[in-house]
Amino acid sequence: MSRKRIFVGLDVGTTKTCAVIGQEYRGAQLHVLGVGTAPSYGLKGGQVVDVVLTVKAIDEAIHRAEKAARARSSHVVTGIAGGHLQSHSQRGEVRLPSGEREVRERHVGAVVRGATMLSLAEDREVVAVIPKTFATDHLTDVLDPRGLTARRLAVEAHVITGATNAMANLEHCVSQAGLSTQGRVLQPLASARACLMPEQRREGVVLIDIGGGTTDVALFVDDACWHIAVIPIGGALVTADIARGLRLPTKVAEAVKVEHGSVGWPVDEDDATVAVPGFDHGAPVAVRRRDLAEVITARVEELLHLVRDEITRSGYYDILPAGAVLTGGGSRLTGIKDLASTVLDMPVATGRPRALWGLGDNLRAPEFSTGVGLLLSAAAAEEADGWVTATSLRHRGVLDRLGGWMRSVVSPTVR
Ligand SMILES: Nc1ncnc2c1ncn2[C@@H]1O[C@H](COP(=O)(O)OP(=O)(O)OP(=O)(O)O)[C@@H](O)[C@H]1O
Ligand SMILES: [Mg+2]
Repeated sequence: MSRKRIFVGLDVGTTKTCAVIGQEYRGAQLHVLGVGTAPSYGLKGGQVVDVVLTVKAIDEAIHRAEKAARARSSHVVTGIAGGHLQSHSQRGEVRLPSGEREVRERHVGAVVRGATMLSLAEDREVVAVIPKTFATDHLTDVLDPRGLTARRLAVEAHVITGATNAMANLEHCVSQAGLSTQGRVLQPLASARACLMPEQRREGVVLIDIGGGTTDVALFVDDACWHIAVIPIGGALVTADIARGLRLPTKVAEAVKVEHGSVGWPVDEDDATVAVPGFDHGAPVAVRRRDLAEVITARVEELLHLVRDEITRSGYYDILPAGAVLTGGGSRLTGIKDLASTVLDMPVATGRPRALWGLGDNLRAPEFSTGVGLLLSAAAAEEADGWVTATSLRHRGVLDRLGGWMRSVVSPTVR
């Protein structure tokens, strides 16, 4: 009888913390046993700003998930996100030692590691490396250089760095909640794992996870992640705009956005209003839905233009036949898909976590993409017998990891 291992994905988001507990079934299928959520009040823009409140949210979410799952594990996989993440285009180059002419895995490992040798401020570290293409003496755009004859091997890589303190703060909160961090995965990769289909990743697709504090962008081509970016704008800023623009308490602004908000408003429906509790002891104030839509649309349009700029910056704008997939709570805004399709000039779909045994329809919602993806990452890492880490790169076959889309990324880091 196979041992049943329990995995936990812990998504500590800006607006909610979500724990997803799963169990491997007969060493193959993953069952979701329980999901727990709790509101987050201790984060801003994806980063911990209040330890006590963050620990409380983690604690609540974990307990709720454990209660639903009737199972527990103190090892969790968390996500790396937040405006502190930065991407750098890096080039690495090695000369093959004299007497060696065939490119082998160790040379690939050396050149990829070389690309991560950027001079970083003291409080920053490399969290992921995405090798894009390799080149040898006379060849460019090589996807897998192993076996080629060369004297020189170069790589173009996308290197993601993060603030050490920001990541340590989250890890500290996790440990304060009595848990240990089994691994860390870039949030956009976790979301992508949960909601992209293999053919979308193969053909070329961009995943856009619109959360409360950040919007994560991850671009996939040839089944590999080629570009990642985090834009420090999310649904919370839309809510803040509504609160300021329409002079409403933030809680009311959030509720009115979710219930009545939309991106765009029909020209012929000018006078529709909703009554909502205002600042004066909750006395109702009338909000014109057109005004509400205008405030929302302005911010969402700005965000989508930033996403478009990011896709353009990646250099892969023209090779995304599968278009864009929107996920995260912010993707639930009415009308956002149409505007995204216009601004990005590509087909747009909504991404939800794929069907898993035990994951009810109510949990197959865009805001659970990261949590489910972290659970899947935890199980996959276990399958691969350990994390794909900057450290292990030294010891294990590099291109075995570069072959799979997820494995093309050296993440998470292990100190
Ligand atoms: N039905 C809805 N309509 C509009 N917006 C919604 C809806 N449901 C959720 N949202 C918005 O989605 C955002 C939360 O999304 P999500 O739960 O994915 O974020 P998070 O993971 O907590 O944050 P982050 O990933 O940025 O750290 C909030 O700003 C919320 O207002
Ligand atoms: Mg999120």
